[in-house]
Amino acid sequence: MKKVILVFFLFSCALYANPYGKCVGCHGAKGEKVALGKSKIIKDMTKEEIRSAMTGYRNSTYGGEMKGLMVSQSKKLTDYDIDFIANKIGK
Ligand code: HEC
Repeated sequence: MKKVILVFFLFSCALYANPYGKCVGCHGAKGEKVALGKSKIIKDMTKEEIRSAMTGYRNSTYGGEMKGLMVSQSKKLTDYDIDFIANKIGK
């Protein structure tokens, strides 16, 4: 019984607490889209490139024309979230 609860708990976390969840609309479920016709295809970036882009947006030191949008997306992310996203999406 405990195992069932644990599995259900992990599953719910993956669904509801996925830090990448709010990125899907623009970047696609796997990071395969060019967000708003502007971004790189982030699944083709390495884990390290994603990590440094996200940290850069958070510190307002990285970005192009639509940087402002990603700055607000990244402000709420913790280092842990950024690691999670980089490992999930990056190559
Ligand atoms: C409203 C649409 C939108 C959402 C939501 C969004 N992004 Fe973006 N993202 C963009 C755009 C547009 C760019 C290009 C910004 C620029 O000009 O620097 C971008 C750029 C990026 C880049 C750098 C790629 C490059 O072109 O250099 C990464 C990495 C990234 N986003 C990850 C994320 C993650 C992770 C999330 C969720 C926390 C997220 N984005 C949410 C639209 C979005």
